[in-house]
Amino acid sequence: MLELQNIKKTFHKGRESVVAVDDVSFEIKSGEILGLVGESGCGKSTISRIIMQLLIPDSGSVTLGDVNLTALPRKEIRRHRLDFQMVFQDPYASLNPRQTIFSTIGEALQQRNPGLKGEVLRKRVGELLETVGLPANQMQRYPHEFSGGQRQRIAIARALAPEPRIIIADEPVSALDVSIQSQILNLLRKLQQELGLTMLFISHDLSVVHYLADRIAVMYGGKIIEHGKASQIFHEPKEDYTRKLLSSVPVLAKLAR
Ligand SMILES: Nc1ncnc2c1ncn2[C@@H]1O[C@H](COP(=O)(O)OP(=O)(O)O)[C@@H](O)[C@H]1O
Ligand SMILES: [Mg+2]
Repeated sequence: MLELQNIKKTFHKGRESVVAVDDVSFEIKSGEILGLVGESGCGKSTISRIIMQLLIPDSGSVTLGDVNLTALPRKEIRRHRLDFQMVFQDPYASLNPRQTIFSTIGEALQQRNPGLKGEVLRKRVGELLETVGLPANQMQRYPHEFSGGQRQRIAIARALAPEPRIIIADEPVSALDVSIQSQILNLLRKLQQELGLTMLFISHDLSVVHYLADRIAVMYGGKIIEHGKASQIFHEPKEDYTRKLLSSVPVLAKLAR
C-alpha cells in the first residue's frame, strides 16, 4: 500500500544542520497498523510530513500503491492529498472552534464528494459520528462542548470522511488521560477490524504502540534501528534502546500484555 525507500531529510539552521531522517525505509500493507516509536526528536513527525507531501525529502521515494509520489509534479500531488489523512496529538488545536461538528465533518466529506448536500450530507455526518462512538444528534455542537477524548473521536471521524487510503496518527493519545487513551486505542482497533483501516501510528510510548500495532518500527536518531512483529519487539527486543524504551513507559504495559 505505502512504501518509503531510503528517505533522507536534513534541516539547516544557519551553519548547523540536523539529519532528522537518515535513510529510512519501511512499508505498510493494506489493512495493517504500523507503529512507529521512538523518543521525542528522533524524526517521527518529519517522516509523517514527508508522507503527507508537506515536506520534500532530500532523497528517497514515497510510493502509494503503484504511484511514486516523490516523482510527481506538485499539481498532481494535490489529487493524492485526500488519500492521506492525519490525526494529531491535540484535537483542540486541530478542530476549528468556530465550526460546528456538522460543518467540520461535512466539509471533509465534500472534499471527496463535492455534490453531497442537505439531508444526505446530514445522514453521512451522523453515520460517521456513530462510527466513532458519538451520538449523531450532537452534530450542531462546537468543539468546546466536548471532552478531550470526544474531540479526538471527532478528529478521527473527520479523518475518515474523505475515505483516505491511509491514516497517519501522530501521537493521537499522548495528550489524553490514561483511561481515555485506551478508549481511543480500542476505537482505532475497531475501525481497523471493521473498515480495514490502514494506519501509521506514531507514539513515543512503546506500550501504547504495542497495544495497537501489527508491526513496530523503532526509531532512534533518524534511523530505524529495529523492526518486526509487535509481539516480538515488545517481548523479545533485540536492541538495548528498545529495552530502554520499554522500561521507561510502564503506564499501559499491563493493559498491553
Ligand atoms: N522545520 C524544522 N526545522 C529545523 N529542524 C527541524 C524542523 N522540524 C524538525 N526539526 C528537527 O528534526 C529532528 C526531528 O524532529 P521531529 O521529526 O519533530 O521528531 P519527533 O516527531 O520524533 O519528536 C529534531 O531534532 C527537530 O528539532
Ligand atoms: Mg513529533
